[in-house]
Amino acid sequence: MEYTLLLIEKNNGVAQLTINSPQTLNALNSAVLGELECALYELDRDNDVKVVILTGAGEKAFVAGADIKEMAAMSAFEGQQFALKGQRVILMMEKMNKPVIAAVNGYALGGGLELALGCDFIYASQKARFGFPEVTLGIIPGFGGTQNLSRRIGVARANELIFTGKMIDAAKASEWGIVNEVFAPEELLPKAQETARSIARLGTLAIASAKNAIANGLNMGKEDGFRYEASLFGVLFATEDQKEGMGAFVEKRKAEFKGK
Ligand code: HXC
Repeated sequence: MEYTLLLIEKNNGVAQLTINSPQTLNALNSAVLGELECALYELDRDNDVKVVILTGAGEKAFVAGADIKEMAAMSAFEGQQFALKGQRVILMMEKMNKPVIAAVNGYALGGGLELALGCDFIYASQKARFGFPEVTLGIIPGFGGTQNLSRRIGVARANELIFTGKMIDAAKASEWGIVNEVFAPEELLPKAQETARSIARLGTLAIASAKNAIANGLNMGKEDGFRYEASLFGVLFATEDQKEGMGAFVEKRKAEFKGK
């Protein structure tokens, strides 16, 4: 599909997906959400893509939130449908078989932070700012933020961010466990690419199973999660990649994974 609001570049098994409407700080309107849904669907099915990096165009923002001008005129029903549309994108990233890394280059506010939290982990530039300003607009996070932030960093810190609407910088976001690592602005994408390429060289079935075990396990009780992990673990012994990975270790050579 042709995209007008997204840029997609593919190299060495890594797709860099850039939200490209910097004049509105990459705000998420219905059209961007629709394109994101299609693009993620296509990237999940593209065998040449092993890892996705999600970022925002321009100097200032990753995504400054859902489009306030579009939301301002919505009815209650339209608001609910808009939240569900964004949630589909977040859930799609969680359900994808490949990792999605957020490279947060600037503001990640409201729906922008929710989009980043839907990714498997977040790298940030020193210029990044994070927050949930929804309450200052008379609403609450609606793209899964109340659920994902509290699961990721704990209820008390999530409560503070969501109730105050305040912004925190990248260092604080890192201390709170929102961000895995903070880089100088010019280092952000090269570092995200480096990590993505190192994952892309590994066995895609093992990575998909690990993502699946972690994401689905969080929705289960602990013992069910353990059982689920063991069943995925067992299935990997039916793959060529497991034979190759363990064979290469025994033969003291580098493994060449095929994703089979
Ligand atoms: C629509 C937005 C926008 C947004 C910025 N713009 N954020 N348009 N929706 N979320 C537009 C501005 O209107 C402006 O366009 C242009 O982008 C540049 O923004 P400025 O405000 O001039 O930039 P600056 O002064 O640097 O301030 C940056 C900012 C501020 C602090 C990020 O833009 C801001 O507070 N934005 C809103 C952040 C926010 O509240 N996000 C949460 C939204 S609610 P013009 O045409 O005027 O020049 C949400 C809910 C999610 O996300 C769940 C939904 C179900």
